[in-house]
Amino acid sequence: MDYRMEIAARVAELTGLDANELQSYIEIPPNPEMGDYAFPCFRLAKSLRKAPPAIAAELSEKLTMPAGIERAEAKGGYLNFFADKAGFAKGVLSRVLSEGERYGASDMGAGKNVCVEFSSINIAKPFHIGHLPSTAIGNSLNRIYQFLGYNTIAINHLGDWGTQFGKMIVAYKNWGEGKPIEESNVRELVKLYVRFHEEAEKEEAESPDKHSKLVDEARDWFRRIEQGDEEAVSLWQRMKDLTLKEVSAVYDLLGVEFDSYAGESFYEDKMPAVIDELRNSGVAKIDKGALIVDLSDYDMPPCIILKSDGSTIYATRDIAAAIYRKETYDFEKSLYVVAYQQNLHFKQFFKVLELMGRDWVKDMEHVNFGMVSMEEGTLSTRHGNVVYLEDVLNASIEKTLEIIKEKSPDLENKEAAARAVGVGAIIWGVLYNNRIKDTSFSWGKVLNFDGETGPYAQYTHARCCSVLRKAGYTAPAETIDASVLTDSAATALLKAIAAFPETIVAAAEKNEPYLIARNVIEVAGCFNKFYYENRIMDDDMTVRNARLALTDAARCTIKNGLRLLSLDAPERM
Ligand code: ARG
Repeated sequence: MDYRMEIAARVAELTGLDANELQSYIEIPPNPEMGDYAFPCFRLAKSLRKAPPAIAAELSEKLTMPAGIERAEAKGGYLNFFADKAGFAKGVLSRVLSEGERYGASDMGAGKNVCVEFSSINIAKPFHIGHLPSTAIGNSLNRIYQFLGYNTIAINHLGDWGTQFGKMIVAYKNWGEGKPIEESNVRELVKLYVRFHEEAEKEEAESPDKHSKLVDEARDWFRRIEQGDEEAVSLWQRMKDLTLKEVSAVYDLLGVEFDSYAGESFYEDKMPAVIDELRNSGVAKIDKGALIVDLSDYDMPPCIILKSDGSTIYATRDIAAAIYRKETYDFEKSLYVVAYQQNLHFKQFFKVLELMGRDWVKDMEHVNFGMVSMEEGTLSTRHGNVVYLEDVLNASIEKTLEIIKEKSPDLENKEAAARAVGVGAIIWGVLYNNRIKDTSFSWGKVLNFDGETGPYAQYTHARCCSVLRKAGYTAPAETIDASVLTDSAATALLKAIAAFPETIVAAAEKNEPYLIARNVIEVAGCFNKFYYENRIMDDDMTVRNARLALTDAARCTIKNGLRLLSLDAPERM
């Protein structure tokens, strides 16, 4: 319920002033004893030609009580409003407890498609910590839109095309010692790739004309992939399969699933039509042998469509992919969860689509984010400078297991809890702040059970479950007397719980999952305060039943929130 709007509407009735304007005047009194909302009457003194205290007194007499408000009191130049706390408590509890797992869900997106591209890893390259934000933010957005009733298409735009695959093949053939690709792993392939560059540099340095035969060979192998040569395509495909098999373990840990793995190679046969259109419409022109779109009118460097050797690039594939997604999914929105380092790239190809007359480009959004780094000593980098995401997750699970063994020695199935909490801590690390903020990881920060962390939220959820379990609670009592839930701790908790549905809508509008993380922490913090200030198992059964119902509502809200962020909510930890 929108109390401010209600109050403003009733004041507008009496004064004939604009309700929207009046709404903006409403204040929250510094002390709840003075009321929940205050209307400052001095704002009306000029137009009503009366002294503020007189206005307040008159309004308090004549005003129809706004919905959800119990009473209004004139005090000096203010008209103070007291919310009907019991009515509010009753409304919140009955909604949460009847909607349960669907509390916060909506059908606002019914019949609408949203493409969410995220993670978009590169084949035969490390799946490293830098991929974490895209993977976690994208996965959360995918869940958020689904919860709001949208049909989402989760897309992993694989980096599976380009001359680097020619290099990979040359490296594998020269130094792979005949080991079948299936028996190898990405880390070994990466090593071979590094070796390729070292050897090629050596060749260039040693040859009189700075030439590398290895690079020539690599170019030739990529050409063979492009032309569909059986051996080349099979090697490329096997590297792709190997990479996808490896990353699927990490995706499982993170609770990530994709609907489409259509990567860059998928658009190979869809580009000629785009290139023809760009050429024929005059949007693109030839410049020094290359086909480019001049973007100088928009203060951007040109977008290259075809290099002078006739090959396509990253941007060409993105243009073809955007058109394909529109034609295939007729999206309402199409999101690209990609680091801010690619801001220019997205601006450029969005502009090209606009120049091509694709007005739906306004429905596309580059959902960008800052960088992630690990604080010194957080992880020993056994593999050079690259920090593999899998290593971070496993280290976090291991450390969590140690903490759990110490804190809850009797817990059954410690491994499962450690997995949920260890992985959750990492995901939370990138979802607790707004996207564009850089994140720096340390174990002290992410595994702190008392801070504003995933483990703290999960721990509070487990505490709710434990309270309910010990009380033998299975469902809310037949009748709940919400009038006993009007103390300040209960009211604060109810307010935090009530804010959950609108928070989800705001998170989707801004593509900011952190709004949900903040709400979850708010609910958890308020619950803990409520828990310390009140005896839930009160002797008075009316009080006890109401407090248990509120505990259940907190449990449910935290759980639903965690699920939208892709954190598990274990019942015991
Ligand atoms: N594979 C790319 C990278 O790792 C990210 C792809 C982003 N998505 C896109 N449609 N361009 O840098």
